[in-house]
Amino acid sequence: TDFRRIIPEKNAFYIGTPLTSKEKLYIDLEKLSMRNSGLFGITGSGKSFFARIIFAGLIKNKISTLLIFDMHSIRSESGKIDSLASLFSESVKIFDVSKSSKDANTYIEIAYEDVEPEDVVLVSDILQFSPKSEETLEIVSRRRKDWLKFLLDEYPNVKDKKEVSDELAVNLESLDALSRHLQKLKNLKFLKETSSSDSIKSIIENLKNGVSVVVQFSGDYKDDRLTYYFVSNIITRRIFNEFSNLTEDTQKNRVVIAIEEAHKFLSKQYQANNVFGRIAREMRKFNVTLFIIDQRPSEIDPEVLSQIGTRLVMELKDENDINAVFQGASHTKRLVKILSTLEQKQALVFGYAVPLPLPINVRSYDEEFIKEMKEVKTTKSVKDDIY
Ligand SMILES: Nc1ncnc2c1ncn2[C@@H]1O[C@H](COP(=O)(O)OP(=O)(O)O)[C@@H](O)[C@H]1O
Ligand SMILES: [Mg+2]
Repeated sequence: TDFRRIIPEKNAFYIGTPLTSKEKLYIDLEKLSMRNSGLFGITGSGKSFFARIIFAGLIKNKISTLLIFDMHSIRSESGKIDSLASLFSESVKIFDVSKSSKDANTYIEIAYEDVEPEDVVLVSDILQFSPKSEETLEIVSRRRKDWLKFLLDEYPNVKDKKEVSDELAVNLESLDALSRHLQKLKNLKFLKETSSSDSIKSIIENLKNGVSVVVQFSGDYKDDRLTYYFVSNIITRRIFNEFSNLTEDTQKNRVVIAIEEAHKFLSKQYQANNVFGRIAREMRKFNVTLFIIDQRPSEIDPEVLSQIGTRLVMELKDENDINAVFQGASHTKRLVKILSTLEQKQALVFGYAVPLPLPINVRSYDEEFIKEMKEVKTTKSVKDDIY
């Protein structure tokens, strides 16, 4: 079988070879980006590299614009490997929450007014909320528009705390505790009472103009989950609000939002009210889809899993995770067996964007790949060049 022949030339992208042959397997990039996709596998299985290969294809073939929340940026892993931004410097911009970042085009600033209670609730475990904190936060944020400034900056200096808690009709100890738990947010230097540069707006403008954005977390924020969840949620909500107001004619670029540790946003507990859950369920009509990267798919709400069109499944060990990735798929028994044999850099690819389920060796992200990505395709004929 020639795997490419079924896929239109401009959408076909070589991602690897079937385990049993040396043929090239192509994926239909347009179909991949038209619906949500999922890339699953344990740590070290090769998710980040596989994702980067696919992102390069989406950008190179101008299939869609990407917004990538890059939790562990490739730069910090190894300085030798070309990042997406260095491959496609014109069409990829780096935004970073850390001013220490050397390769960022723009530093992110988030203003208090961009933060909603739901962003804080998402990280309530990391902030070590007490049982009453969430409820107290809800009351305070309903009564005071400037709730974040109040809780972070003002309340700790209030002389008569009893009077203030009475005014708000909340329990004094609960209010004390809430304000105290939130103080961790004061470590986030990019979080400002007011922001002079609207960097989130700039991200949105880039996406609208077809420029992909990598949101990077370097320096003090490297591997900091609080920052990663908090910032990704805030930025994505602004984008959701913006794009869901556009009519289908004005929003021409297809946007794919790639998110790691996706189960945090898409768990049963959160997804119904979370912006990523809403995008997974509603945004296809606005040309915005998710590219979900996760090592614990069983923690993602089955409702969201069933919305995933194309699945790229790498090595998984936990039985619940294995069952989760086959949510709604057919011929599961055979596929489970194949999955159990996968090693690093191998994936079982199935769903909307491939002709049939196949286990593959993912192609290498190496010199050759990079050279291929840097090649400028000349689709213009000689005649076009003369005139
Ligand atoms: N397609 C690939 N090309 C080259 N090296 C790879 C590829 N996939 C995995 N690797 C190697 O395996 C390691 C782990 O892969 P990575 O994508 O970081 O795993 P994960 O994101 O699942 O934790 C990488 O550091 C790299 O050395
Ligand atoms: Mg990774």
